[in-house]
Parts: sequence; C-alpha cells; structure tokens
Amino acid sequence: MSTTTYTDVKIGIIGGSGLYALDNLQVLGEVYPLTPWGHPSDKITICQTKEGTKVAFLPRHGKGHALTPSEVPARANIAALKHLGVRAIVAFSAVGSLREELVPGQFVLPTQIFDRTKGIRPSSFFEDGIVGHVGFADPFHEPLAELIADHADALVDSRVHRNRTLVCMEGPAFSTRAESHFYRMANCDVINMSVIPEAKLAREAEIAYQMVCMVTDYDCWRPHEAAVDVTTVMGTMEGNKNNAKRLCEAFFPDLERAVNTAQFRGKDFFAGVEGAAKIA
Ligand code: ADE
Repeated sequence: MSTTTYTDVKIGIIGGSGLYALDNLQVLGEVYPLTPWGHPSDKITICQTKEGTKVAFLPRHGKGHALTPSEVPARANIAALKHLGVRAIVAFSAVGSLREELVPGQFVLPTQIFDRTKGIRPSSFFEDGIVGHVGFADPFHEPLAELIADHADALVDSRVHRNRTLVCMEGPAFSTRAESHFYRMANCDVINMSVIPEAKLAREAEIAYQMVCMVTDYDCWRPHEAAVDVTTVMGTMEGNKNNAKRLCEAFFPDLERAVNTAQFRGKDFFAGVEGAAKIA
C-alpha cells in the first residue's frame, strides 16, 4: 500500500460488474482510506495516463465482486474520492435494455434516473444536525456527458446512445416480467442496481458525475425469450470491457483540461463536516 498522500487526483473512475481494473494505465499506488462512513468498496488504485493525468480507479463491488448493490458503501466511496481531489466521476455500470434498439454490447449515457430502490441504502451525507437539500432534477453532469460522447469513435463495433432514462432497482434478484413491462410503460430505457445512491452522493459532494451504461442483456420483457441471468451479464461485459478502457483512454486528455475549468469546480464539501479529519 502506498504511503504517499494524494490530493490532486481530479478524475475518478468507478468500475461496475466486469470492470475491475484499468490495466492499460501505469499504477502509481493504492490507497484504502478510512472515512467517517467507513472504508470504500476496495483499495483505490491511483494510475497515470501516458499524458501524465492522474486517475483514481475504484471497483464498486470490490475486486472479487464481494458486495451486492445494496451493500456497496457508497458514502465511503464518494467521500474517499472527494478527499483525493476528484472533481469528475465517470461511473461504469452493466445495464439491462428495455428497448429493442439498445443492443447488448452498446453504451448508453442516461440523462434521467427513476429510483426504484427500497430506501434501505444510506443515500445522503446530510444527517445528525447537518441539513442540506441539493437539486437533483438533472442528476447527471451534461458537460461531462458531452465530453464522453465526443469520444464515442474510440469504441470498436459499438456505439453510444444519449438522452435515455435509467431505472435503478434494489436487487439482488432481477425483475419479474411484470416489473420489466411496467418500467417500459414508465418510459424507462435501461435498468441497473447501482446508480442510486452514488449519483445523489456525488451531487451532494459537488463532484461532476456521469454514468456510462454498458448494455449486457434485454432483461425479461421480450416475449418467448430467456430472462436475464448473471452468466449473460458477465459474458457480455467480458467482451466489452476493453471498449470501456479504450473510451477512457480517449477522453482522459480532454477531461484533464475540463476539470480545471469552473464548470467542474465544486466547493470544499468537507470543510464544514465534522469528522472529515478522520479521513486518512
Ligand atoms: N444489470 C445488468 N443487467 C441488469 C438487469 N437486467 N436488471 C438489473 N440490473 C442489471
């Protein structure tokens, strides 16, 4: 484990199912900070691109996929990234498709979230006398989405769809067919178990946040077709993780420039939060 203290790592990448490392980058070290909300999902790898950009990589479910979506310590994850200096998070996630045209292997940059988690995940930093109500009407960071989409040509045999709605369910069991049809009726386009509370916490911490959805399956709404299972999800992700890494490599130089502009500069969130000193 690195003894170096990093405070200038402005880009954070959260890897979802099947994306457990950015092994195309040079590794500088690893950190595993104790935040007031506990440890993050796993060690955070501090990497460097060939242009010299520092990037923090965190596998959401741990490297061995040891955490269910309901167990992910999202507050510790976001607090740890904030403490490293992160201003923009690009969060990858496997998703099921609720639309014929969103084909497994393709990418989606959603603009909206429909929260169908069950209220059992701690989803705010504000409690114990610290009260805050952030705006969440537009849960993702439009300039960040734009910047990622500009590099879609880095993908091999794939494409990026934009302006879609992501429904987040509790899991860990997948949806019933009735639920899958209901989400389609509610104009949802893709489904996962991970964007909530991560996106809300990033907003509270004033970190620009965009989820990059990787379509792995058609959930279970298509008639006469086998329902989604874990083997299908992991199989598609295995084929597509190199595309995710290629996309990152392509947008890193532009993102490095962008995070230094006012559009990406949040306030010092932890300045007034009691216990912040415990982050080591
Ligand atoms: N992640 C990947 N595919 C999914 C699906 N069909 N439902 C929920 N989460 C998913």
